[in-house]
Amino acid sequence: MADHRLTDHPILGPAPAPRLVTFYHDGRPVQGFEGEPIAAALAAIGIRALRTTARRGEPRGLFCAIGRCTDCAMTVDGVPNVRTCATPVRAGLRVETQSGLGEWRR
Ligand code: FES
Repeated sequence: MADHRLTDHPILGPAPAPRLVTFYHDGRPVQGFEGEPIAAALAAIGIRALRTTARRGEPRGLFCAIGRCTDCAMTVDGVPNVRTCATPVRAGLRVETQSGLGEWRR
């Protein structure tokens, strides 16, 4: 898949060398840079639907990107309703597309 990350910002300059780590999206291993928001890592590999709505099952994804709207809520390591635009990637994380209000899984 194409990588759409910004590597050389016109004002900030080149990005520091990132550390690529493996985490899991719906049980599949995927890679992202340690510390980048989960939603950004998923967007970079073409995954845009992060949850589905409770009533109609419609897909939702990154919207405000600042932790305010909850459209990016996913189940992370068994905890539902985690705002993935404000939660950093770390190795071994288990991220699941959330259906409706989600369920606690431990
Ligand atoms: S995109 Fe709005 S809270 Fe994450």
